[in-house]
Amino acid sequence: MRTRILEILRKKPEGYLSGEEISRQLSVSRTAIWKHMQTLKQAGYEIEAHPRRGYRLKNLPDLLLPDEIRDTLNTKRVGREKIYYFSDIASTNNEAKRQANLGCPEGSIILSEAQNGGRGRLSRNWFSPSGKGIWLSVVLRPPFNPYDAPKCTLLTAVAVTKAIRRVAQVECGIKWPNDILYQGKKMVGILTEMSAEIDAINYVVIGMGINVNIGEQDFPAELKDIATSLSIVVGHDISRLTLLSAVLTELEQAYDSVIQQGFSEMLDEWRELSVTLGQNVNVVGSGREFSGIAVDIDHDGALLVQTEEALERVLAGDVSIRPQR
Ligand code: BTN
Repeated sequence: MRTRILEILRKKPEGYLSGEEISRQLSVSRTAIWKHMQTLKQAGYEIEAHPRRGYRLKNLPDLLLPDEIRDTLNTKRVGREKIYYFSDIASTNNEAKRQANLGCPEGSIILSEAQNGGRGRLSRNWFSPSGKGIWLSVVLRPPFNPYDAPKCTLLTAVAVTKAIRRVAQVECGIKWPNDILYQGKKMVGILTEMSAEIDAINYVVIGMGINVNIGEQDFPAELKDIATSLSIVVGHDISRLTLLSAVLTELEQAYDSVIQQGFSEMLDEWRELSVTLGQNVNVVGSGREFSGIAVDIDHDGALLVQTEEALERVLAGDVSIRPQR
């Protein structure tokens, strides 16, 4: 009902609509309309109520409200059935795992305006200020072998990079396996978590942290030199709603294409969008550290690094790009 009320109000951006007219169009009582208006106001919509003229939608809030998301979205599954929305939460990935364990459908999304315990890879924190980014987790139930789950990270990196390039025209690129960078600074991080049996995945939670409208002055000192946001790069704010919708659309397309056609085309797209390949990299992980040239990724999504001695296959670890000398 709230979505339909908003639809009606949106069609009359400048003028008022009487409670009577709205109740007639929707065949519900004026009291019911009044109650829905209160709920919409509480959710953040600026609705003006005039005693004689009726209601007017003054401003759409800069919030990622489920009704707004549904209105812009044209996916089939992702973000379609369940949208869990919070103003503040510890971590959307934690909530996504909780919902997934309770049996939420594939494609459910969990969003929060802010996170007070946002998590990154390798037990790092993720800076998630209110209303300035997209802090999002998506629940998938892929028909893959658990061994193939890391592919979800790679296909997500491709999807988010394409969405950012399309919506904001920012030529960002992927650093293996899960960072999206612009001129060496991090703009997006992806944290994929999984629950699985020995031979089947129960669910995969893909967490995305996209720095959209974080100002230079907002970043804490330790991030200033290594992180950036879309608004810093383009010089103005970007609509989080438009970007979110593009991310979910690209994600669904990438996921469907991997399920239907296998992983090889996605890997080619990843290679094209990569900022890691061809670079001198330093790899830290599994008790080892070595350097070499990142030459390719293989069919499992592992990074292939040519050192002076051997071709190393990196499936996990921290990879940093070394400055060219
Ligand atoms: C990384 O680069 O280390 C991964 C960062 C992932 C951050 C996102 S924000 C939404 C989701 N919830 C979390 O707690 N983390 C991910």
